Amino acid sequence: MSKKLFIETLGCAMNVRDSEHMIAELNQKESYELTEDSSEADLIIINTCSVREKPVQKLFSELGVFNKKKKEGAKIGVAGCTASHLGKEIIKRAPYVNFVLGARNVSKVAEVIHKDRAVETEIDYDESQFAFKDFRSSLYKSYINISIGCDKQCTYCIVPHTRGEEISIPLNLILDEVENSVKRGAKELFLLGQNVNNYGRRFSGKHEKINFTELLRRVSEVEGLKRIRFTSPHPLHMDDEFLQEFAKNDKICKSMHMPLQSGSTKLLKDMKRGYSKEWFLDRAKKLRELVPEVSISTDIIVGFPGESDADHEDTLDVMRQVGFEQVFSFKYSPRPMTEAENYTDVVDPQIASKRLAEVQELHNDTLDRLKERNLNKVVEVYFEELRSDGFVAGRSDNNLLVKVKGSEELLGRFKNVRINRLSRLSFEGEVI
Ligand code: 5AD
Ligand code: SF4
Repeated sequence: MSKKLFIETLGCAMNVRDSEHMIAELNQKESYELTEDSSEADLIIINTCSVREKPVQKLFSELGVFNKKKKEGAKIGVAGCTASHLGKEIIKRAPYVNFVLGARNVSKVAEVIHKDRAVETEIDYDESQFAFKDFRSSLYKSYINISIGCDKQCTYCIVPHTRGEEISIPLNLILDEVENSVKRGAKELFLLGQNVNNYGRRFSGKHEKINFTELLRRVSEVEGLKRIRFTSPHPLHMDDEFLQEFAKNDKICKSMHMPLQSGSTKLLKDMKRGYSKEWFLDRAKKLRELVPEVSISTDIIVGFPGESDADHEDTLDVMRQVGFEQVFSFKYSPRPMTEAENYTDVVDPQIASKRLAEVQELHNDTLDRLKERNLNKVVEVYFEELRSDGFVAGRSDNNLLVKVKGSEELLGRFKNVRINRLSRLSFEGEVI
């Protein structure tokens, strides 16, 4: 009989892929069936994120609950970025945790489950970690790592410490994964990396050295593949060649993530982002010129040390000028091992909350106008999720979440849909 595995995945798409990798590794040795009920699981894994402090605090209360409810003999493991960052401290604070597996060590999951309180958190690498075994949580789209780690030194960010230095995965391994995914039926791909458009910066051995633009071209030549998405690109590396390829390559979905962080050139400097307000605006303008239907999403941090009213106004100004279709906004959270942790000109938390609310209000206003524009439009949707309420959901090329009444017959198919209703987070329509 197979064992049961409960796995909770927090954080970014890299973590989603790492969880898939752990499931695949575990199943190489013995068979595991996934469960959504931690109390019936033989193995409980939390794949954590450490980008902000709150989820880290929540981890320990959550672990306590899992421990209380777990069935006798069940093991608990903590994986991912918080595991990298806290290491054996986790077992000190929660002694019932059986193993700790850093973000760069997830390949070792099948080994550590048989050890007593193993802690694996090195950030060096060997190439055997690149070729992920095959488990996909979706039949219709595949996540594919193109690089691991990050070489940037953004002063607020803990990720270079949890995921280590940036290594590009060799082209032949990426193409193998793409081809295998397409053979299995996935028509959409998500190319993943902390900084995808820096692809080619460093390979671990002698490999064909190409940049991200060339990688996009090569991946798009794979027959049977219909859509390519990627996350996250860095605004600094959005050169003309890249934007032009994005515009003219039909397989690349017309949705771009452009993490702004701040609209103030001064703050961008303090964050060590490597670009100015003007550069960002210029790239966004160029992108909208080349691809009028593009949907642009962004990340914004408010309350970074030293942020004045004028800096905040710059952020709102960029928001107004670009009109982002999607905004993920966060209050700055000081992180250990980062440069900004030592910055002293802290912003009053109440002012930071007010600024966050202003960012969110401005975005909601923009969103109302943008949504209206899509009413009665016909978009091509790739259906990938059957919901319990009789709807099937999917995304348009430019990333609108669209649902229609229907059955599983729609799954894995492209259909033209006329949008006839707007709801808070998605669009409703009918297949035409
Ligand atoms: N505080 C708040 N937000 C952060 N992010 C990264 N580090 C921090 C931090 N210390 C945000 C950035 C990044 C997103 C993934 O998380 O906006 O783009
Ligand atoms: Fe979170 Fe960053 Fe780690 Fe992803 S890479 S899980 S966003 S800390």
